[in-house]
Amino acid sequence: MKLNIGLLRGDGIGPEIVDSAVKVLEAVGEKKGIEFKFTPYLIGGAAIDATGKPLPEETVKGCLASDSVLLGAVGGPKWDTLPGGIRPEKALLGIRSAMELFTNLRPAKLYPALKGDCPLREDIVEAGFDILIVRELTGGIYFGDRGMREGKYGEEAYDTECYSRFEIERIAKVAFEAAAKRNKRVVSIDKANVLDTSRLWRKVVHEIAADYPDIECTDMLVDNAAMQLVRNPGQFDVIVTTNMFGDILSDEASQITGSIGMLPSASLGTTSRGLYEPIHGSAPDIAGQNIANPIATILSAAMMLKYSFDLNSESDMITDAVDKVLEAGYRTADLAHGGPHLTTDEVTAKIINALRGEKI
Ligand SMILES: NC(=O)c1ccc[n+]([C@@H]2O[C@H](COP(=O)([O-])OP(=O)(O)OC[C@H]3O[C@@H](n4cnc5c(N)ncnc54)[C@H](O)[C@@H]3O)[C@@H](O)[C@H]2O)c1
Repeated sequence: MKLNIGLLRGDGIGPEIVDSAVKVLEAVGEKKGIEFKFTPYLIGGAAIDATGKPLPEETVKGCLASDSVLLGAVGGPKWDTLPGGIRPEKALLGIRSAMELFTNLRPAKLYPALKGDCPLREDIVEAGFDILIVRELTGGIYFGDRGMREGKYGEEAYDTECYSRFEIERIAKVAFEAAAKRNKRVVSIDKANVLDTSRLWRKVVHEIAADYPDIECTDMLVDNAAMQLVRNPGQFDVIVTTNMFGDILSDEASQITGSIGMLPSASLGTTSRGLYEPIHGSAPDIAGQNIANPIATILSAAMMLKYSFDLNSESDMITDAVDKVLEAGYRTADLAHGGPHLTTDEVTAKIINALRGEKI
């Protein structure tokens, strides 16, 4: 089997963590006879420096020609003062849109080995949680009409939220299909007491729910959801929500797992080609020091094997290896609380050892 993977290393710690995930994929390839061909493309600040654009045409073409794409992260202080149109982060919306990726899957799972890192009360931590957030990715306020204008009080800015029935139906279906393979519960999160878009969202989600009689579907207002995530995260199985609510809630969920450096994500469309990336940013404060936690990116590569290529046992090989390394007590600095810790390269090597069945 031969797979062409587009690599978007990006900025900050992006190149370090993507290189770690590449090494892990190569180790899986060696063991399972899969030939990975990795082709790097420019994105973000690195692309601005080289071409003047955050998302060069060649990058879009390359990603569309790949079997799947692995992304590190983009952005950093060097590009923070550029106008919005050429900011590195603009490339993220651009590539998701070009690849027609309307679904973002973000698992937020509490690893038993990291229970001590969870900031929640002990009884909540003991109960554990394993949540899948299904976030709509190409609609809503991030893509709505926006601008600056003169208003009643002078200069003002506006952003608009718009959702079509079609967009809600297709993301709701993804959530119910995912729940069917998990614990058969979907909580749909909206702000239907205020927003018309949320009222349509709620109506359409329930219409789709009728096609999945085995799956429990409930609604929750986003403000309550923000509270329930820290009060009782174990109540959630699959969450489905809009682009902006999903963006905010998934960062909250990431924090209660212990480290932002642990959480992968998958962005999917209607084909098997996806965009896989850690949920954290480019961490410019620790870039180039070989101390970043590569696990979120390595787990993103595991999600790629599962969701793009149906390579479920190969994907499990990676997640099991990560579990073993954490169980054995190895940590990068973000999880070590000032105690002994390993570098990015050392943790990657441990994961590869575990994957090969060697001593870690
Ligand atoms: N998808 C993306 O590419 C993406 C997402 C969010 C932010 N950003 C960009 O990243 C830059 C920095 O943003 P930020 O500081 O708000 O968020 P960030 O996620 O980059 O960093 C927040 C904190 O978490 C730490 N951290 C993040 N990932 C880590 C890892 N793998 N290992 C260890 N520690 C880690 C950082 O050192 C920092 O202290 C900004 O330019 C922002 O726009 C990019």
